[in-house]
Amino acid sequence: MCGIVGFSGTREAAAVLIDGLRRLEYRGYDSAGIAVCDGERINVAKVKGYVKNLAEMTHDGADIRGFVGIGHTRWATHGAPNDVNAHPHLSSDGRFAVVHNGIIENYALLRQELTERGYKFLSDTDTEVVAHLLELYYAGDMKKAIMKTAARLEGSYSLGVVCLDGSGRLFAMREQSPLILGLGVGENYFASDVAALVPHTKNVIYLEDGEFAELTPEGMTVYDVTGHEVKKPVSRVAWDVEAAEKGGYEHFMLKEIMEQPACFKATVEPRIKNDRIVFEDFDLTDGELKSIDKIIITACGSAGYAGQVGRYVIEELCRVPVTVELASELRYRNPIIDEKTLLIVISQSGETADTIAALKECKSRGARVLAIVNVVGSTIAKLADHVIYTWAGPEIAVATTKGYTTQVAVLDMLAIYLADRLGRMDSVTYERLITALHDMPGKMQRAIDLNRNVKKLAKRLSHHNDIYFIGRNMDYAVCMEGALKLKEISYIFAEAYAAGELKHGTIALVEQGSLVVTLACYEPLFDKTMSNIEEVKARGAQVLAVAPEDNKKIVSKADDFLPVPRTEPIFTPLAQIIPLQLFAYYVAKERGCDIDKPKNLAKSVTVE
Ligand code: F6R
Repeated sequence: MCGIVGFSGTREAAAVLIDGLRRLEYRGYDSAGIAVCDGERINVAKVKGYVKNLAEMTHDGADIRGFVGIGHTRWATHGAPNDVNAHPHLSSDGRFAVVHNGIIENYALLRQELTERGYKFLSDTDTEVVAHLLELYYAGDMKKAIMKTAARLEGSYSLGVVCLDGSGRLFAMREQSPLILGLGVGENYFASDVAALVPHTKNVIYLEDGEFAELTPEGMTVYDVTGHEVKKPVSRVAWDVEAAEKGGYEHFMLKEIMEQPACFKATVEPRIKNDRIVFEDFDLTDGELKSIDKIIITACGSAGYAGQVGRYVIEELCRVPVTVELASELRYRNPIIDEKTLLIVISQSGETADTIAALKECKSRGARVLAIVNVVGSTIAKLADHVIYTWAGPEIAVATTKGYTTQVAVLDMLAIYLADRLGRMDSVTYERLITALHDMPGKMQRAIDLNRNVKKLAKRLSHHNDIYFIGRNMDYAVCMEGALKLKEISYIFAEAYAAGELKHGTIALVEQGSLVVTLACYEPLFDKTMSNIEEVKARGAQVLAVAPEDNKKIVSKADDFLPVPRTEPIFTPLAQIIPLQLFAYYVAKERGCDIDKPKNLAKSVTVE
């Protein structure tokens, strides 16, 4: 949830750290801070609020001198978001400064023990115990102090430590929280995400749980939990720095909405070879495939809603039972899972704590795990038996858009692939769907072009304080994502209901002027959805319909209309979500919300 960054080089560290924090700010934005060692002392600057406040306070870092340092942007877990709880935290003797992403679960006990030993705590954070433990265990050997400290910590953490020793030494340690090392020329770095590293280097090392590293300007050494040196492979980051910048758009979210046709193409096209779908990391034998008797999809938030779309498509094409389970629930259930279960885990970040826990739980019960992940080298990608990456590039806006559509794209391809391998799809249908997949980037672009005036509509409808989304079958699955987009960035109460369920309770809420967004793209149930429109209109509701662009019937009934191009039916959600993303974006803008950084949220939920 928080973002951490570290730098060791021969130029001023503060500006590099602040730039890194800007690139990690999507991970948390309650407060920001840096600690830089100038050889004589560790200088700390930290402040409540955005990284821009820190930049202003330090004159873009010019006030804080030194060549080695660490930085942090926070999503508060322990202690209110204020200047004191902002990271970095110092040891009592000022020799160590620490930044942390994750949760130290046994911090209360450690705090009590350290207090009894005479250490004074300044903040309410769990992190401060780490700084004092380092001081307690330091007897001239930093490596030993790190190992002894790590042995006392329970929970999840990626930690950055700067130590006033020589001209300043930099350490990074990882346990169940992402941490990546960047190899530069005459300078080296660490960060929670490659986004902070790509302006400097594309050569990275992914730390594993239990490993820690010492970084100097000349190089870095990685150690395992017992202190033995580990030789790590160097990976190349596949994307450029521009991919993580706004590129002229006012918000990352808008840029990412517009990127969707290209991201779809990047995800789908390389996997169609000679008109056949090929998944290089999912090549089960026929026997293994046929032994699968059920599929469980698990994820959180939008990734789960992508899974809801996937459920309809996989069941329809493959005739294999599919359930979609919230990872936060699945992890604590006693699910019926065995070797015949295929678990599909979906995650943009690959670091979501609940999803990781559900994966581990199901794997321990024998499930074969296929992960659909965007971030290369992430924890979920490492834990799964097979990985299919979505090639969406870096997603910076907290509200996912291209992450979601590329997840749906992979699920669609997977459904076609499985149906074919299981002998449940004829060749004519297969060829038709492959052709339709090639057409989808154009259709998604048309969905964008058809809805360029959604801004005006959003302005007119932005005063609503509660908005209902209704639909049936795949339309209902898309309603869930449409409602989430709206609520998380505009703070309007928005909820999705299966249209057929309305009369079992929810319709009691509908009154004169209520706004009901009705998704009516799923053709086989169109007439039923039209009846639901009649029902809510009879109670005074205003209807915003999302339907095929040439559907005259709905235009005559609805008050407003968001058109969607016609596509092969199973691919419609990919086009249909686009006007809803744009609607949410412009409603939030109209209401003056901070679109890329919605309140209380953060991307990459690495804590439970
Ligand atoms: C909503 C959103 C979240 C994420 C969820 C899972 O716009 O972004 O609901 O979808 O937190 O995150 P990942 O996909 O990283 O596991």
